[in-house]
Amino acid sequence: GEDVLAGDKHRDVVIVSHRGASGHAPEHTLVSYELGTKMHGDYIEIDLQMTKDGHLIAMHDMRVDRTTNGTGLVKEATLSEIKKLDGGSWFNGKYPQFAKPEYAGLKVPTLEEVFQKFGKNRSYYIETKSPNVYPGMENELLRLVNHYQINKNKLLVQSFSSDSLKTMHDLDPSIKLVQLLSYRSNAVISQAEIEEVKTYATGLGANQAYLNEEYVKQVTASGLELHVYTVNDKARMQQLIDWGVTGMFTNFPDLLHKVMKEI
Ligand code: G3P
Ligand code: CA
Repeated sequence: GEDVLAGDKHRDVVIVSHRGASGHAPEHTLVSYELGTKMHGDYIEIDLQMTKDGHLIAMHDMRVDRTTNGTGLVKEATLSEIKKLDGGSWFNGKYPQFAKPEYAGLKVPTLEEVFQKFGKNRSYYIETKSPNVYPGMENELLRLVNHYQINKNKLLVQSFSSDSLKTMHDLDPSIKLVQLLSYRSNAVISQAEIEEVKTYATGLGANQAYLNEEYVKQVTASGLELHVYTVNDKARMQQLIDWGVTGMFTNFPDLLHKVMKEI
């Protein structure tokens, strides 16, 4: 009956630890990724930037300023310069209620280090950030995925750039892709847009603020996954699950896990 259907629907909602368990620990550190998994996150979300000497690192912004004690653009820094930075103390200053002494001095990880630490069977949800600024980043991502024999069934690559996703798709059509979208008012999508996305991607990632039930039903009925970002509020999580989203990015994977258990 209805209970069984509801159960099936809810079981399928994937928990994406957004920048790791970034509500609890400094985003995009190995500690925050590890915590995401401990807190029942299915996927570790990783944003990519590329250094001057061509290394992919885990960082959200193009500049190091917000999440380290340094300043300047990632693309103008070498990896050895990035490795001198403190990627944790800022968090203790900004979120005293979550601060821990061991966060001070945490390093900015490379993608390679993430793969080395968590291995080929973890579920990674990797975003190519500013791909126009970093020519070749898709090739380097794919090189590392292949070198570390990352399980492609557990890998998702996401981007706001459809060009970047199409580049990935051409390089390796077996890699599952998610097209990110950002709505600034009530979310609407045409069937033509959905069909276009389906030529290269298996899902959409949309900001949650302007979603509505009709949008969620339309996208999921088309066969695309719908993963929404970034949801940190319990009531909103419940509502979005009820509407039928298939995954959620959250800074608090522990909270989403709790919500899913209660349903
Ligand atoms: O990747 C989904 C979501 O993380 C996109 O927003 O700015 O947090 O990367 P942002
Ligand atoms: Ca992201």
